Amino acid sequence: MDQIKDQLAKELSQAASLEEVEKIRIQYMGKKGSITNLSKTVNFGAMGPEERKDFGRRFNEIKTWADQALAQAQARLRQGGGAAGPMPVDLTLPGARGSLGSLHPITLVQMELEQIFQGMSFIVGQGYHVESEHYNFDALNIPGDHPAREMQDTFWLTNGMLMRTHTSANQVRMIEAHGVPLRAIFPGRCFRYEAVDASHENTFYQLEGLMVDRNVTISHLIAVMKALLSQVFHRPVTVRLRPGYFPFVEPGFELDCQCLICEGVGCKTCKQSGWIELLPCGMIHPRVLEAGGVDPDQWSGFAFGLGLTRLAMMKFGVPEIRLFNSGDLRFLEQFPAAV
Ligand code: DAH
Repeated sequence: MDQIKDQLAKELSQAASLEEVEKIRIQYMGKKGSITNLSKTVNFGAMGPEERKDFGRRFNEIKTWADQALAQAQARLRQGGGAAGPMPVDLTLPGARGSLGSLHPITLVQMELEQIFQGMSFIVGQGYHVESEHYNFDALNIPGDHPAREMQDTFWLTNGMLMRTHTSANQVRMIEAHGVPLRAIFPGRCFRYEAVDASHENTFYQLEGLMVDRNVTISHLIAVMKALLSQVFHRPVTVRLRPGYFPFVEPGFELDCQCLICEGVGCKTCKQSGWIELLPCGMIHPRVLEAGGVDPDQWSGFAFGLGLTRLAMMKFGVPEIRLFNSGDLRFLEQFPAAV
């Protein structure tokens, strides 16, 4: 086998055309080729089982090696190389270009929303992944014995801190840091102790926003949400508010958007209802303003929490939430490198 291998390597290195490589292929790997015929030259009857196994392994190895060597010789000749030997180097050829990564779909949606909100004079904040119980719960009118704590399964750390369960944890921090009047959004990663399935992740992204000023009303909330959604979806949208309960807003709402696929008639995407539940929001609870040192008799505001991961799924038609954190290049490469 080693002899055949050496011989084949030598002949391939001297081959100067694809036709010659093909002839060599037939000579070695064709029906009656010398590699193909190797099994006929041995007397299996005289071999022990170990020997037979060893022969089989080496026979497969040489076949794989020969396939590769032939393919390499073909590739070399297709690229215009002659018989192997020192290859002429063309220093004027452009170098291999480094490939650029692409932006993650959630980053794309986040960047788009940041731009839209900056156009409405909102500042962009950040917040912390590791939060205190105070900012994640108490300051948001969710005391220790409040049943709403049950709604969010929290990763607690051994030092008494926690992984923030929502970007709302940054509301009071932003009010403290910037004072009022204030328009701010703060996108970021949130963590919940969830069983992972096609639509639930234990790591996901939200984009929280708030606006506090004198005499801010529900009309402002609706106007800003409509402006946001019509820019995201590139067309006018119809929205409606349903009552929703969140301890840190009063009143609290679920904002629905008329289904963009069927225009409200009813289809599979909106489960025949004509509406799609988009984001929870509401008028900031006086206790939350107080926690941020703001007098609720003088100031009012609205807040909203948008599921960035869900919005990215809707915008790009991603059916499976686990793709976002999978690191699977076949998924990631479908998104552009820049906006
Ligand atoms: N923080 C809530 C959650 O993650 C979402 C939310 C609801 C945010 C109402 C808000 C709001 O700002 O007003 O479940």
